[in-house]
Amino acid sequence: MLAKTKVAVLISGRGSNMEALVRAAQGADCPFEIALVLANKPDAGGLATAQAAGIEALCVDQKLFGKDREAHERAIDAALRERGIQVIALAGYMRILTAFLVDAWEGRMLNIHPSLLPAYPGLDTHGRALAAGDAEAGCTVHLVTAGVDEGPILGQARVPILPGDTEAMLTRRVLEQEHQLYAATLAEFVRGL
Ligand code: GRF
Repeated sequence: MLAKTKVAVLISGRGSNMEALVRAAQGADCPFEIALVLANKPDAGGLATAQAAGIEALCVDQKLFGKDREAHERAIDAALRERGIQVIALAGYMRILTAFLVDAWEGRMLNIHPSLLPAYPGLDTHGRALAAGDAEAGCTVHLVTAGVDEGPILGQARVPILPGDTEAMLTRRVLEQEHQLYAATLAEFVRGL
């Protein structure tokens, strides 16, 4: 059997997308393994979840680097390379990247975003879709480039916006799709490497 592609998932919070990727990676036919979960903050809830799943969970605390975002990313990059990581999956990683990490991992770093890009890059995507009276919402997996939420789109999933929807209801509906979309898109991406 071919070796599985080593993926690192970068998180800042609860990590439900990370968990979905971990679950998918347990499938015998899955072409990737989650070799590392890395957070930029020690209080990221997903670190404990990863550890409980038997995956190395590492915090490269941004606080230790003050305002020097590139130095923080150099430390992240070193940790990834030490472990032979081949692909990065950003999953709720809430820090804007510098050109250093984006260039170093060009074509090998994916992100999931809770909107149908190019609509609603940035934050508060569901609130904005509801305020605009949109008929549908969704999520996008894309390659990471210098512009925030801007890289080539690898996959999208759509959900309807229903009468009476609150932001919480829409968030939940989209998140369910995120979990499926990310695992499927990452697997397809890795098979094409
Ligand atoms: C998700 O909605 C993802 O699309 C966005 O941040 C959220 C992270 O949620 N980038 P989780 O930490 O994966 O639960």
